[in-house]
Amino acid sequence: MPQRKLFVTTALPYANGKFHIGHIMEYIQADIWVRSQRMQGSMVQFVGADDAHGAPIMIAAEKAGKTPQQFVGEIAAGRKQYLDGFHIRFDNWHSTDSPENTELAQAIYRQLKAKGLITTRTIEQFYDPVKGMFLPDRYIKGECPVCHAKDQYGDSCEVCSSVYAPTELIAPYSTLTGARPELRSSDHYFFQLSKPQVVEFLKAWTQDKDADGTGVPRLQPEMAKKAGEWFEAGMADWDISRDAPYFGIEIPDVPGKYFYVWLDAPVGYLASLKNHFDRGQAKDHWHPASRTDATFEQYISDPQVEQVHFIGKDIVYFHTLFWPAMLKFSGRKTPNQVNVHGFITVSGEKMSKSRGTGIDPLKYLSLGMNPEWLRYYIAAKLNARVEDVDFNPDDFVARVNSDLVGKYVNIASRAVKFIAGGKLVAGDLSALNPGRLVESVRQQYESRDYGKALREVMAFADEVNLRFDSAAPWKLVKEGKSEEAARVCSECLEAFKVLTACLKPVLPELAKQAEQFLRCEPLDWDNAARPLGEGHQVGEYKHLMQRVDMKVVDALFEPAVDAIPSPQPSPASGRGREAGVGVGAGAPPPQPSPGGGGSEQPGGEEIGETITIDDFTKIDLRIAKIVECKAVEGSTKLLQLTLDVGEGRHRNVFSGIASAYQPEDLVGKLTVMVANLAPRKMKFGVSEGMVLAASHAEEKQKNGIYVLSPWPGAEPGMRVR
Ligand code: MSP
Ligand code: ZN
Repeated sequence: MPQRKLFVTTALPYANGKFHIGHIMEYIQADIWVRSQRMQGSMVQFVGADDAHGAPIMIAAEKAGKTPQQFVGEIAAGRKQYLDGFHIRFDNWHSTDSPENTELAQAIYRQLKAKGLITTRTIEQFYDPVKGMFLPDRYIKGECPVCHAKDQYGDSCEVCSSVYAPTELIAPYSTLTGARPELRSSDHYFFQLSKPQVVEFLKAWTQDKDADGTGVPRLQPEMAKKAGEWFEAGMADWDISRDAPYFGIEIPDVPGKYFYVWLDAPVGYLASLKNHFDRGQAKDHWHPASRTDATFEQYISDPQVEQVHFIGKDIVYFHTLFWPAMLKFSGRKTPNQVNVHGFITVSGEKMSKSRGTGIDPLKYLSLGMNPEWLRYYIAAKLNARVEDVDFNPDDFVARVNSDLVGKYVNIASRAVKFIAGGKLVAGDLSALNPGRLVESVRQQYESRDYGKALREVMAFADEVNLRFDSAAPWKLVKEGKSEEAARVCSECLEAFKVLTACLKPVLPELAKQAEQFLRCEPLDWDNAARPLGEGHQVGEYKHLMQRVDMKVVDALFEPAVDAIPSPQPSPASGRGREAGVGVGAGAPPPQPSPGGGGSEQPGGEEIGETITIDDFTKIDLRIAKIVECKAVEGSTKLLQLTLDVGEGRHRNVFSGIASAYQPEDLVGKLTVMVANLAPRKMKFGVSEGMVLAASHAEEKQKNGIYVLSPWPGAEPGMRVR
C-alpha cells in the first residue's frame, strides 16, 4: 500500500457562473480519490481555485455594472455552499486573480523567455472602434463566406459547418456594439511550441508510459493516442498575449499587454498551493496525516511529490501540451498524472452552457436530497476511461434504494437486533475473505475504477445478506438458539464494518455515523479488515440512510417555472388554478416587472423589447388539433398532448397545464403551437413544440391559465401570422 506524497487539483472553473452538475461530478471524482489515498496514509494537498481572468469575464462584469474583481469575488463567495453541501473537501480554494498567481505566471514567462522560447509577431486582427478593443472571434459575427447564412460566428458557420477566419466573413459586425470591426495590427507574444526541443520533449512526455515508476502512466491510453495525432498534425506556436483592455496579468516589461487567460489559468494550481503553504495551512490543517513542514518551494520541487490533475475531456490540449511545456522549460517539475473524465449528461441530453441541465446542484440540496446519494450514483458510473456518464433518474433511484440502502445499510439494521446488549460474540468471516475485498477495492479506487470497486462491494454485501437470510436468526431465536443467532449477526456486523471502510471514500458522512454506531476507530485501508472482535460493544443503532422518494426526484426535474406555490382550487371557474405555462419546450420563466407588484403593467409584465417582422417570422406558429391528451404519471403539473399539425404524423408535446384542465376537456379541440421550436428531451419523453396559453405573470393562481384556440374554420397546419 504505497504512501504517496500527492499534490492534487481539479480544473479551475471559470468565475462567471455558478457550479453546474459537471463541475460537481469532477470534484466528486477527485474527492473520492483523495479520500481513498488518505486512507492508505498518503499525504495529500488537494487544492482548487477560480479561473478569474479573460475577456468573457471582463465583459460579463461590465454588463453587470461591476468591476471584474467585484464580479469574480461574488462568484467565489458562492462556492462554499456547493463544496460543503456535497462533502467535497479541498484543502484550499484560491483565485487566479491573486498576487501568488501574478508572481508565478510572470516568473514562468521570464524563464521561458530566458530560454529563448518567446518570440513576437505582428498579427492583424479585428478591432471594435466603438468599444476600443480587439475582438475575440466569439464576439464577431457576419455572413458565412461559403453558404451566405447570416449572423454566423467569427470562426465557423453553424449552418454549413465551414471553418474560416473572422476576416473572411462578409459584412462582419461586433456583437458588443454592432460596429463594423476594422483590421488593425498589433504585436503578439508567442510561446514557441514548434521548436524541435519542445516537440521532442512533448512527444516523449505524452507517450512515456510510467515515467515516475509508480506503475501509473501519465496519460490514459486514449489520451496518449490523441496526443500522437496532434503531433502528426504539427505543433504551432501558441499566442499567449492579449492587448488592453483585458482582465488578466500584465506581461513583464511590455506595457498594455496581458497574458492570455489560458497562460495564467493552470499556474493557478501552483498559486493556490503556494497560498495554502504561505498561510501555514499545510503545516497544521485539518488532515493531520498531510501535515508538512516544507515550504512551498521545497514541496513543489520535491521529486517524491506527485502532481495529479483531474480534468474534463474538453481541456486536454492545454493540460497535456501547453502546461507540461510551460513547466518543463521554466525549469520545473511536470505533472505526474493527468486524469481525464468524460462529460455528464442527464437522461442522455448534453448540457447546454446557457441552460445547464435538468439538475441544479443547489436545488438538489435545497430539496433535502442526500448529497451522498449523488456521490454514490456518480461513483458507481465512473471508470478510468474517458467516457461520458449519464444521470438517469430511474437508475438513480434504483441504485440508491436497492444497492446502498437495500444491501449495505440493511445489514446493520437487521443484524444488530439479535445481538444481546450489542456485545459481539466470536465469529469467523474468513470464508468471505474480507482482506482480499479490501485490497482489491483500494486498488480500484487508486486506478479510478470506482464503478468496479462498488460492484465488488455490493457483491460482498449480497453474500452477507445471503448468509443472514439462510441462517434466519429470527427462527434461531424462536428455536432457543439465541447464541447461534448472535454469532451469525456478529459476523454480519463485522462484515458491515468492512463494507463501511470500502464505501468511506464515497460516503464520508455515512461512514462517520457508522463508525459511531460500531464504536470503532476511524476506518482506513489498514484496519478495514481487522475484526472488531469478541466482546466488542457496538452502540445504539440509528437509521443510517433514507431511501430516495421518486417524488423528490420529480421535483428536482420540474422546470423552474413550476416552482410556484401549490395550486389553490378556484371554485368559480374550476380551472382558475396556477400552472406553469409552456414548459413543453423550455420556455423561460415569466419575467416579473421591476418594482415587484406589477399591477400597473398589462398582465403583470412589461411589454417586451421591440422586434422586427423578420424576428417574428422566425417563429412558426401553427393550428394544432389535440388528438389525444393524458395525465403524466409522476407529474402533477404536466399533461401530455398528441397534436396533429397536418404533417401526416403526430407530435408529442408536454405542457404545464394539468392543474387547469382535465385531459378530456382538451381532446378534439384546436389550439396554437410553436411548430419550429427545437425538440427538448424531458424526463418523461421528448417534447416537440409548445402550446400557447395566456396567464398573468405573477397571479396565475388568482387569474388562471387559458390555452388559446382559433375561431371556427381554422384547420390543423394553418400558419398563424
Ligand atoms: N477555466 C477552465 C479550466 C482551467 S484549468 C487551469 C474551464 N472551466 S470550466 O468551468 O468550463 O470547466 C471546469 C471543468 O468542468 C473542466 O474540467 C470541464 O471539463 C468540466 N466540465 C464542464 N462541463 C462538464 C460536464 N458536462 N461534465 C463533466 N465535466 C464537465 O474549462
Ligand atoms: Zn455557412
